[in-house]
Amino acid sequence: MVVNHKKTRWDPELYEARHSFVWQLGEDLIQLLDPKPGERILDLGCGPGQLTAKIAESGAIPVGLDASPAMIGQARQNFPQLSFVLQEAGEMRFQQEFDAVFSNAALHWMLDREAVARGVAAALKRGGRFVAELGGRGNIRQIEDAIERVARRHLGDNLPAKQTYYPALGEYAALLERHGLEVRSATLFDRPTALEGEAGMENWIRQFKAYYFESVPPAEATKAIGEVVEELRPIAFRDGHWVADYRRLRFIAVKI
Ligand code: BEZ
Repeated sequence: MVVNHKKTRWDPELYEARHSFVWQLGEDLIQLLDPKPGERILDLGCGPGQLTAKIAESGAIPVGLDASPAMIGQARQNFPQLSFVLQEAGEMRFQQEFDAVFSNAALHWMLDREAVARGVAAALKRGGRFVAELGGRGNIRQIEDAIERVARRHLGDNLPAKQTYYPALGEYAALLERHGLEVRSATLFDRPTALEGEAGMENWIRQFKAYYFESVPPAEATKAIGEVVEELRPIAFRDGHWVADYRRLRFIAVKI
């Protein structure tokens, strides 16, 4: 059985302190975006705003959008000179306002994918580009499998609904094309990603997957997370550090 639950509450402090690799790895996506001075660029799922600020360094005019009040609050505090909008991506109503839409490591959280693709297409000017990277099919499979095995021991069949999805390349390309976005390039690739420190996997689970254990008392949640970490140790702890089995789907699409 799948149970409804609250959406992830983002913790910007843990995110900035321990998961800066998310935007550091996103920096080469900005090279693919190739922002130009004066261009208006929407950063979809901007989190605490580090990549929005990188885009601004090029002289482009970015707008960061995120559905998490905590993340938008942090982004405004980090970069008070930039524009940030608190909104679900599936609810945005921009009309041909942007030269480009950019998104790093965020689309896999946006389950209303048709509404998001429709909103992106509407937001772009004709000829505008959508440059993005998200988790692709098979992303973090070994971590999710371990979490689900442990969660079943603690929750039986009452697992929470998944909050992320990792599409196959063809599936996502078809989605974009249905909404008038022509896919010019797309690639699915493995990117094993080092997590920081001995507590790297525990921190990652607490940041991104804590919702699995929200329905049990805190002491049991801590025990369960420890069990997940131990299940993963033989396969994901190598040469003194944790490695997450990330797979990325990266694409450039153009509004036609
Ligand atoms: C990802 O970037 O692929 C990801 C991050 C956190 C949870 C799930 C996926």
